[in-house]
Amino acid sequence: MKTIKRAAAVLSVIAGLALAWPVAAAEALKIGLILPMSGPFAAYGKQIESGVRLYLKQNGEVFSGRQVELIVRDDTGVAPEVSKRAAQELVVKDKVDILAGFGLTPSAFAVAPIATEAKKPMVVMNAATSAVTTKSEYIVRTSMTLPQNAAPIASWAARNGIRKVFTVVADYGPGLDAEAQFKKTFSAAGGEVVGEVRTPMKNPDFSPFLQRIKDLRPEAVFLFVPAGEQGIAFMKGFAERDLAGAGIKLIATGDLTDEDVLDAIGDPALGIINSFHYAESHKSPENKAYVEAYYKAYPKQRPNFMSVAGYDGMHLIAEVLKKTGGNADGDKFIEAAKGLKWLSPRGPVSIDPVTRDIVQTIYIRKVERVAGRLQNVEFDQVPDFRDPGKP
Ligand code: PHB
Repeated sequence: MKTIKRAAAVLSVIAGLALAWPVAAAEALKIGLILPMSGPFAAYGKQIESGVRLYLKQNGEVFSGRQVELIVRDDTGVAPEVSKRAAQELVVKDKVDILAGFGLTPSAFAVAPIATEAKKPMVVMNAATSAVTTKSEYIVRTSMTLPQNAAPIASWAARNGIRKVFTVVADYGPGLDAEAQFKKTFSAAGGEVVGEVRTPMKNPDFSPFLQRIKDLRPEAVFLFVPAGEQGIAFMKGFAERDLAGAGIKLIATGDLTDEDVLDAIGDPALGIINSFHYAESHKSPENKAYVEAYYKAYPKQRPNFMSVAGYDGMHLIAEVLKKTGGNADGDKFIEAAKGLKWLSPRGPVSIDPVTRDIVQTIYIRKVERVAGRLQNVEFDQVPDFRDPGKP
């Protein structure tokens, strides 16, 4: 009896070793996600992480034989030093293969030199200042750029009889990009920017600007502020001072009417025309499946552009590893990412082989109530649109 037991034990150890062998042979794929998980932009971190984890849930946690291991680090929002330290630790201590995430531009700018020095791929899942991808050869972006979204709404406004616009943007990278591109496209189409303000990133008070704009009576205001609380505050002031009643339209990039804050803005959002690359209401089989799976996994969150960029970022990593046979070496990774094409929940996308930025359809949308819920309803589009902000 004893001998039989011992033999069985030996056999099970051998079987265990055999099973363990292929796993041990392929090292885990460590992905360091640097995201704002606390502070005023904590929603970005939550949404991007949700998109990332949904991709793993649907596609499995093994990419080309390598077990995916996520390490999430909170950079608290606009805190470049914190993002930088997180990246250094992820590279040196945790020995990650890939740096990913980046909710805000200052964070992506701060980490770019580390990606270059360590030769690690850096997958940007939100930070949307055009210049981000020029800061390191190892950066590839799956979100958008502000010029990419500002140009189509400027063209739309000019085509639809709007001649005089006042621009309001957050005073940092993406805001300055949005302002410059809006002005360029709108002026070239015969429009005129009759006034502009840049609002502070910390606790902006929009009321004095809104009064000035009301007195000036432009035909429309063009707005970019980072998605979230700032847009809610702006809309509150816009409604309270009744700029709409004074005949002033509001146009924006879709950061303003992001599904995550649309319900909080409420009825004042109705009718806002805006341009963006993703809408929960986008009509395609891929998006239908995405939205259903998202609500199933996270019943209390609405799928939005941040979650999709996280989801697509993971898709990019998975596809790149298929091409490299599981190798995440920085140079090989970036070479394989160039020119990659896929069907995202937002529509067809590809990675520009020269800029490593995303090429995608930009939709013109109007906020409407659909089945009792505020939605961005797409009614026009600019397909295969590259970032016009690059030289
Ligand atoms: C950015 O910091 O790059 C950023 C943040 C929020 C947005 C867009 C861009 O909605």
